[in-house]
Amino acid sequence: MQPLAAEALHKRFGDREVVREVTFAIDPGEVVALVGPNGAGKTTMLSMLAGVLRPDSGRLTVGPGGLGWVPQRAAVYPKLTIRENLNLFARMERVKDRPQAVERTADRVGLADRLDDRVGQLSGGMRQRVSIGIGLIAEPEVLLLDEPSAALDPLQRTRLWDLLNGLAAQGVAIVYSSHLEAEVENHADRVVVLDSGAMLYNGPPSELGEGDFEAAFIEILLANRDDAPVVD
Ligand SMILES: Nc1ncnc2c1ncn2[C@@H]1O[C@H](COP(=O)(O)OP(=O)(O)OP(=O)(O)O)[C@@H](O)[C@H]1O
Ligand SMILES: [Mg+2]
Repeated sequence: MQPLAAEALHKRFGDREVVREVTFAIDPGEVVALVGPNGAGKTTMLSMLAGVLRPDSGRLTVGPGGLGWVPQRAAVYPKLTIRENLNLFARMERVKDRPQAVERTADRVGLADRLDDRVGQLSGGMRQRVSIGIGLIAEPEVLLLDEPSAALDPLQRTRLWDLLNGLAAQGVAIVYSSHLEAEVENHADRVVVLDSGAMLYNGPPSELGEGDFEAAFIEILLANRDDAPVVD
């Protein structure tokens, strides 16, 4: 059984079709990048996969290992310490042996020595780690992240990918959205291109186009636009 499978997921806001019958599944340890222009439907798609937004139609199957969700804006309590935040989410997820789960998770995200720091006093990169820790607290088989590196400097981004690649090596499937071509090119077994809610591509980054990844990506978008220029 795949840890996450979505079949014909569809979402409408008013009369706007935001995600159109998207079908895709993920294997254990696979890293999938979700790309597309602003408003393409990435956050909507991830929110449906995470189970925090109800699709209008379609089917979502989550494996027994469950999934973790890391929204773009860290849902953390700034006045609480890292330990208190992790413990709170562990309680909400009904995690057994919470103190141990908190220590193990902090260790996994590289925050073991900062457990008693208040989250509001951490740097953006560290807060991001707390947010990932919250997503990992119940040891899910799938981690969904919405633009995880958007607010990170290049060094923090490298650290984030050390962490995410390490998780993938342990078998955690990762689905993330990104606007950074270099990141997608370097860190994805598979790329899903969304535009206006439709899936335009679902395959390895190497087959997206010859050579220049960014140019290939833009070409796919333009080729599928109604207003695309006609080229002979
Ligand atoms: N709660 C909502 N109510 C109405 N429309 C919404 C809602 N959430 C999203 N939308 C619309 O759905 C479309 C897709 O939005 P979404 O946030 O999924 O795009 P995105 O691909 O994540 O964009 P970005 O790259 O800017 O983060 C947009 O047109 C947006 O305005
Ligand atoms: Mg978004």
